[in-house]
Amino acid sequence: MSTTPAPPRVIYDRMESARSRTDELFALLTPAALYSRPVPERHRLIFYLGHLEAFDWNLICRKSLDIPSFHPAFDKLFEFGIDPPVGKAAEDQPADWPSVEEVLAYNRSLRRIIDDLLDRAPEQLIHVALEHRLMHAETFAYLMHNLPYDQKSASSVQPPHHHRALASKMIEIPAGYATLGQKAGEFGWDNEFDQHRVAVPAFAVSKYKVTNGEYLKFVEEGAPPPHFWTQRAGNQPGEKWLYRGMFAEIPLPLNAPVYVTYRQAAAYARWVGKDLLTEPQFHRAAFETPDQKERPYPWGSTGGSAVPDAARGNFDFHHWDPVDVDATPAGDSALGVSQLYGNAWEWTSTPFGPFPGFQPFPFYPGYSKNFFDEEHYVLKGASPRTASCFLRPSFRNWFRPDYPYVYASFRLTEN
Ligand SMILES: [Fe+2]
Repeated sequence: MSTTPAPPRVIYDRMESARSRTDELFALLTPAALYSRPVPERHRLIFYLGHLEAFDWNLICRKSLDIPSFHPAFDKLFEFGIDPPVGKAAEDQPADWPSVEEVLAYNRSLRRIIDDLLDRAPEQLIHVALEHRLMHAETFAYLMHNLPYDQKSASSVQPPHHHRALASKMIEIPAGYATLGQKAGEFGWDNEFDQHRVAVPAFAVSKYKVTNGEYLKFVEEGAPPPHFWTQRAGNQPGEKWLYRGMFAEIPLPLNAPVYVTYRQAAAYARWVGKDLLTEPQFHRAAFETPDQKERPYPWGSTGGSAVPDAARGNFDFHHWDPVDVDATPAGDSALGVSQLYGNAWEWTSTPFGPFPGFQPFPFYPGYSKNFFDEEHYVLKGASPRTASCFLRPSFRNWFRPDYPYVYASFRLTEN
């Protein structure tokens, strides 16, 4: 990755566009919502209002260009998020945080300084800042999802759903190689290097992600319901499940992917006598072609000309909630597997760990390394709220196996 400065106009436009993505999220919240903590294992929402700017500032101006701080206390307060084990909440109180006005004033000052210096910043750090912000555009949506509906203004309606029977099937993926990781010289996070190939034995994979309708049978057999399901008061157990959408509850969309934890996904797979995908298997299902070449996207050509537009899958902020698993056939992989990008991340059974040759980013050493602990699993793909820049084969996401707030589903394999 080049350390020379990037062309300023393009970078400035990308920065503006990423900022408007995150600004529009905060604009949906009531003032009181900013001081609430909708997910116990994460900070109060006010933290993120300062964090996105403080991260850019600390990375680009403080660490790289050595610009003096004008507010060291905020630089520190908003530096890093938290990821304690599930059930271990932080204990700070709303009064421990500064006012919205103070944070916005800090943000305005930072943006002005950063914008003046963008053409001096190393290209790699600009990429890190942009992708960090867009990752938070997604993880902030998970947090917002858990706010009461009266603390956020509805910005869209639910996508349409059908209740036709799905022609689900298992698809054979032949034995072959998967290329994991990013090519040297291209942008990727530290955990995407080094690029390497792994041999993958033949396996079969479900064409679609597991749906709410399929998972409902498991729940009716006594499995606990997913975090995203609810029932109206007065209903009997097992009766009339609702999906808790971002802005409204709707009757459970039976053909949409079920959002579950890793443990729930693994339990369901055991229940039906199948397995979850491994990380290399995901690559084979997504990028392999019948002539044994790998594509940059599941669709299109090996040359990589086809861009990720809305017809290919439910990603890049078009919807807040999932569509049906068969709604985007133009995004099917060459081997016929649907929605490998979009509509939900996919839990893999691969613990998050370093690729051979891994080296932490010197300017952000804890980004990946702190999570190589066998207590996080790799997720691949993309959710409705994943920016299209993350649709690259090497991108890896990871979460704790019992963290229930992620837009994450799974598909089944037979080995
Ligand atoms: Fe962050």
